[in-house]
Amino acid sequence: MPEAHDTPTEGADGSPEARWLAGDVQHHLHPFTDPEDLRRRAPRMIVRGEGVRIWDARGHEMLDAMSGLWCVNLGYGRADLVEAAREQMQRLPYYNTFFQTTTQPAAELATELAAIAPAGMRQVFFTESGSSANDTMVRMVRRYWDLMGQPRRKMLISRRNAYHGSTLAAASLGGIVAADAKLTHLPK
Ligand SMILES: Cc1ncc(COP(=O)(O)O)c(C=O)c1O
Repeated sequence: MPEAHDTPTEGADGSPEARWLAGDVQHHLHPFTDPEDLRRRAPRMIVRGEGVRIWDARGHEMLDAMSGLWCVNLGYGRADLVEAAREQMQRLPYYNTFFQTTTQPAAELATELAAIAPAGMRQVFFTESGSSANDTMVRMVRRYWDLMGQPRRKMLISRRNAYHGSTLAAASLGGIVAADAKLTHLPK
């Protein structure tokens, strides 16, 4: 992970970076970050990416060995992805797939993924993150066993200190104390 700048954001020098950082420190609550620590040391602002490299607002070039958060697996600055996104944003930026509707990209992607998935996996459920994928999986598995007439099958097994995400169910699967949903247990 890029190291934070040592320079404080206060005492802004009037540059756009100083303005952005001041706003960030005041108004942006960062995940997995101690806000006090962030206030003491300004975050590093990443402004551009190309291939496997990223640049911060001060022009430092870095190898992005973390690939974003393990998710920029095709690299930065791909003209073909930019064009595909531009074309789709213009045609139909969003529609839901509730209530017996679908969209061409959802239908095509589901079909392509099913074709390369292991045998027996024929259907795709789209979510917007790994955390919500795992929450959805917990609900689906429980619903499945309810429908199978075995509603007591509720136990999920995971490895100690595993990370499965930061939503309530996903965090409770792992046992990493900082992310543990038991800290925010919802009453029934
Ligand atoms: C194994 C694993 N599961 C789940 C997640 C959560 O994904 P997301 O950050 O998209 O919610 C991560 C994220 O790093 C992960 O590494």
